[in-house]
Order: sequence, then structure tokens, then C-alpha cells
Amino acid sequence: MAENREARIAPHMVVIPWLAQGHLIPMLDLARLLATAGANVTVITTAANVPLSTSPCPASLRFCVIPFPCPSLTGLPPGCENIDSLPTHRLAGPFYSAAKLLRGRIEHLLLHGLSPLRPPSCLLFGIGFPWLASLARDVLPIPRLVFHGFSSFTHLASHYLHACKTHERAYNFFLPGLPHKVEITRSKLPVFFDKASEVRSVYEEIREGEVAADGVVVNSFEELEPKYAAMFAEATGKKVWTVGPVSMCQREKLDVGLRGRKGSSGVDVDRCKRWLDDREIGSVVYVSFGSMGRLEPEQTVELGMGLVMSGWAFMWVVREGAPPPPVELEGVGERGIAVRGWSPQLMVLSHAALGGFLTHCGWNSVVEGVAAGVPMVTWPLGADQYLNEKLVVEVLKVGVEVGGRKEDEGLVRREEVARAVERVMGRGEEGNEMRRRAKELADKARRAMERSGSSGLSLAQLIHDVACWPVA
Ligand code: UDX
Repeated sequence: MAENREARIAPHMVVIPWLAQGHLIPMLDLARLLATAGANVTVITTAANVPLSTSPCPASLRFCVIPFPCPSLTGLPPGCENIDSLPTHRLAGPFYSAAKLLRGRIEHLLLHGLSPLRPPSCLLFGIGFPWLASLARDVLPIPRLVFHGFSSFTHLASHYLHACKTHERAYNFFLPGLPHKVEITRSKLPVFFDKASEVRSVYEEIREGEVAADGVVVNSFEELEPKYAAMFAEATGKKVWTVGPVSMCQREKLDVGLRGRKGSSGVDVDRCKRWLDDREIGSVVYVSFGSMGRLEPEQTVELGMGLVMSGWAFMWVVREGAPPPPVELEGVGERGIAVRGWSPQLMVLSHAALGGFLTHCGWNSVVEGVAAGVPMVTWPLGADQYLNEKLVVEVLKVGVEVGGRKEDEGLVRREEVARAVERVMGRGEEGNEMRRRAKELADKARRAMERSGSSGLSLAQLIHDVACWPVA
């Protein structure tokens, strides 16, 4: 094998983010980081997924826009170019199939259409495009790297679950392959371990894409998850680069409010900021279930009443189409605020008024919470979120769990919500200790992202590895 010398100076990295906010947002941050660190980066995406941004783009970062297949071909409602714009989760399968229709255009671009830049040196694909792994192999002999959006902890545990199938033999078990004991139940594993899932074939394709990839890029940092990334690399024989928290990439202040904003939903950054400015330091709980999470109406009431009972101020993000916060909240006056649609999460998390984060434990939210140094109340809803909860509560000890039940376990009651919020926000020994640990992790995150920090070095290594990748 000869070294890919031609690409050595500044590799041309093509980034194709999966079309869901929880994947698109970190991959766009990652593209910016790579470009700032010296790579030439082309992001291929559809018009509705190009970010709004006020920060100057590094000259070496460019966007290549391709049209999303039209509704007559896909059967999707017009304008749905992102999973979270779908009116119902049931359309996720058809959306995944629709995205496959992008194959021809992407293939053409990779082979002929990205001039004047040199041909791609690598393809970094979002996990919803698993077929890109074989496409790249078929048409271009370049490394195929995957961004899954998972923590190293989840990658490692998932790898061993696939290998050992522990969950097929027991309902309650310890996660295999970890250097310490973490107990879980089968029902809390990511849905791709569910053999009866309706979209089983989709998960199988995703798994194939994962296995076919030459390396994995993770939005995490060494000090947050010591050992897991290295163990995952060793177990799979793949290269693993931990380059996060990617949300800490350089951007203008205004951009912090715009991050992840979609054209359709107005984000009232000023309203959120003014409201937070009027609160005392460390007095607000921020409540968000990510870009897609929704609670049932009854559960929404219990959560709302629990927040009221806790006595702490709260900012609660309620998705479009989700049940409104309970009417009782109207009596809360200034103490609570509901943000409809999309919140400027990074700005909120970094505000001095923030004292805690009630989160569904999407990995981006967890890493952003860690980077901001806020302790968490964990309420996972599905996907990798239960595994992330284990990391936050049992390993890092910067959170307490409250929700995260499956339907058959009943509602999370308001008293439980109030108690969990008080444990995290309160000034007793437990709250103080959690805050101390959270601040310590935030310091480590900041240092990791410096050029000489663990993530800074890993990012440089990633660019170097791609530049020097042996050509078959
Ligand atoms: C999805 C999966 O659900 C999650 O389990 C996986 O780890 C990543 O992909 P999502 O549920 O959207 O993600 O949650 P999360 O990982 O937290 O990502 C949401 C992103 O949107 C975060 O970067 C967050 O800052 C941003 N966001 C979300 C906002 O900026 N405003 C909002 O109102 C909601």
C-alpha cells in the first residue's frame, strides 16, 4: 500500500450529515472544526439543512446543496427534508427510503462535481446514510468514516451487545465489555436491539454501514469517558477519534442563538435571554427533550406540576405539536416560561442563571450540559438515551434520574419530579457535590478543546490520518 501523499498537505474531507437535528447540528460543528484546523471541507446537504449562520465561515469550508427528492417520488409532505420536520414518527421509515434517492447525485458529485477542489480524500457520513460506506468503496478508494452521534460508552456497550447478545438471554443484565458493572434491562436498550422492531431492516443496514466504516468520529472527550474510546477502538480494530464537545467550536455570539435553527420556527433568543437575565444565579432549571422528544398529555401535566412544586424557576421547551404545558401553569406567573418550538439551547445552558438541566439525555444535550458545567435530571425517552443516563448518573455522578420509564411502568409523578429537581438544584451536600463535579468536567472540556488538549490533538490526528491514509 502506498501512502496517499498527494492529499498530505490539506486533505479534502467530504461531510454528509444525516438529516436529523441531533446528527446535523454536531456534524456541522465538526465540519467547522475541521476547516478551522486546516482541512478543506465540503458539506453536502439539502437546501433546508444548510445552517443559518452569522459567523464567517472559514474559507476552507463550503456547502454543496443538492435537492431533496420531490413529494411525488417520496410520498412525504412537501418541505420535509429533516426527520424532525415529519408530522409523525411513522414517516421515519419512508424518510429513510427517500434519502436513498440522493444516491445518484451524491455519487456524481463525489466523482465529478466537487472541482475546483482536489478529489475527496475521505468521506465522513452520518449514520442514516449507511449505503454511503459501500458507495465510497465502489467508486472511490478513500477512507469512509462514520459519525454516529453516540458516546464512546454507548459505542462500546453496543459493540459488545452485538457480539455477545447478552440481551437475548436475559432481561436484566450487566452491560458486557465495560470495565465496571452497569446493570440495565432489555427494554431500555436502543431500539436497534429489538428484533421485533418494524424497521428492523433499516437498523440492519445501519449496522452494516457502521461495520463497513474504517473509522469512527465521536463527539466526546477523553477525560469525560476515560478508557471507553480506546477499548472500542481495540475491540473493533477501527480508528476512533474523540473530538468534542464539538459545540465549543468557535462561533460568534449571535450564532449561539441561531444554532440548529430551522427557517420555519422563529427562535426568540432575546426573550429567553431577557427572562434569564432577570433570574438569580443558579436558580433556573432548563427542561428539554431534544429535537424530537414529546411526552404524552398526562405525563406533561405531571412534569409541569412537579416543576411548580419544586419551587425553582424553570424554562421549558415544548415542541410544535406536543401537548401544551398544563393550564395550571398559568398561575406560576414569572417563575416558569414555556418556549414553543426551538430554544437557543447553547445560550441557555451557558447563562449564569442556569442551575440544572432536565434532559432526555440525547448525547448532544449531555455533552452540551457537561460543557456548560450544569448538573442534570435525567429523563430518557428511547434510542441511546438510557445508556447515556447510566453514564451521567452512575459513572460521572453529575445527575439524578427521574423519568426514563417504559409505558408499562406508569407515569412519573409530580412528587418525584419535584424531589429530583430539588436534589440537583438544592444547596445541600448532594447538590453541592454534583455541582462541583459538573464544574470540574466543564473545565476539562474547555481544556480538551484547546489545540494541545485531548480533543484538539485528536482532531489534528484525524486530519493527519486522512491525509496519510494508505491508498489501496
Ligand atoms: C438524536 C437522538 O434522539 C439522541 O438520542 C442521539 O444521542 C442524538 O440524536 P435528539 O433527540 O435531537 O438527538 O437530542 P440531542 O442529542 O440532545 O440533540 C439535539 C440538538 O438540538 C442539541 O444540539 C441541542 O442543543 C439542539 N436543540 C434542541 C436546540 O438547540 N434547541 C432545542 O429546542 C432543542
